[in-house]
Amino acid sequence: MSDYLKKMMHHVGAGAVMLCLSMARELGVVELLLEAKQPLTSQQVADKLNLRERYVREILGALAVGEVISVDDTSTKFHVPEDRKQTLVTVSGFSRFMPQLGMRYNNVKDCVQQQNPAGIVYEASPGLFSMLEDMLVIVKKDMIDTDILPAIPQIVPKLESGINVVEFGCATGVLVNKLASRFKNSTFLGSDITSKPLEVARADANSRGIQNISYSTDNIENLPEKYNDSFDWILTRFVIHDLAYPRQALNQIYRCLKPGGIFSMIEVGLEGGIAGNIANGTSMFYYSASTFMCIPESFRQPDSAALGATWGASLAREMVAKAGFTIINETASHTDEKEIHFVCQK
Ligand SMILES: C[S@@+](CC[C@H](N)C(=O)[O-])C[C@H]1O[C@@H](n2cnc3c(N)ncnc32)[C@H](O)[C@@H]1O
Repeated sequence: MSDYLKKMMHHVGAGAVMLCLSMARELGVVELLLEAKQPLTSQQVADKLNLRERYVREILGALAVGEVISVDDTSTKFHVPEDRKQTLVTVSGFSRFMPQLGMRYNNVKDCVQQQNPAGIVYEASPGLFSMLEDMLVIVKKDMIDTDILPAIPQIVPKLESGINVVEFGCATGVLVNKLASRFKNSTFLGSDITSKPLEVARADANSRGIQNISYSTDNIENLPEKYNDSFDWILTRFVIHDLAYPRQALNQIYRCLKPGGIFSMIEVGLEGGIAGNIANGTSMFYYSASTFMCIPESFRQPDSAALGATWGASLAREMVAKAGFTIINETASHTDEKEIHFVCQK
């Protein structure tokens, strides 16, 4: 087997293993292995979760040969070494993209083949919002404290004394609800172009008694005049590259911030273009996921910018500067080196 064939077959196997990992995650197998004090057999896993053992054995086999989990010399007992547990939580979160991308396969193929429509919005894919939520709830559960607040000078005392905050493209509101429940003197708005995920956000806030938050369906590319100069802090995560008219959106954000206000643009920030990302696993993921999610989402309009998740940090910097912002800080996420928090000031 040539080195090239070996490498390509590794990719083929890795893609398939990630599909098994997603299923293992959804069925509770991953959680059981993470919590187990002793290595478990496929029968023990099947019995505990009320699953068919023969399937469980094959899934565990796929995960073990893919080195996602470990197996003993008898090929019957499976476990996750302590020092790999946190990474497995992260990777199993990412694995959930695989079936979701697959479910869009035929529709995206039609889009590529120049059939109409040119794209597919997220709302058309049941399960996409819950998967995105899963990433924020489990994989990125600490990101407010590790990636967001520490990057912005003096934001915590301001939030404690009371400021006006909005997250645009908040989907099911995981971040904005968390912030609102923590900083009770501040006022929060959760906004998205799609109303369905906002219902999830509202239900969560109601069930937790969060009162300093409201929700609104807005198109970030055309925000109402009443928002002029009204927010101290505007947050977007993985939204700008998905838009049909991102430059227009950045101008709208600028207009809606108070002078001196902060815009936190959390974005995929690849450096070096295609040639600078060869064989980087995270970049491989972003180019592929972007094909099935971000490009179709952006094609709400035929003349859409369709930047894709791979738009690149240098274009991001250039676009926020053109909208009038000064970037005062840039930090990479603790769970994903390609996820960049651009702290922009009006
Ligand atoms: C990739 S999702 C990110 C969701 C969430 N911020 C997160 O970090 O998981 C992009 C979000 O932007 C929203 N969106 C897309 N176009 C929009 C627009 N023109 N105005 C406002 N929100 C938009 C989508 O509905 C979706 O909730």
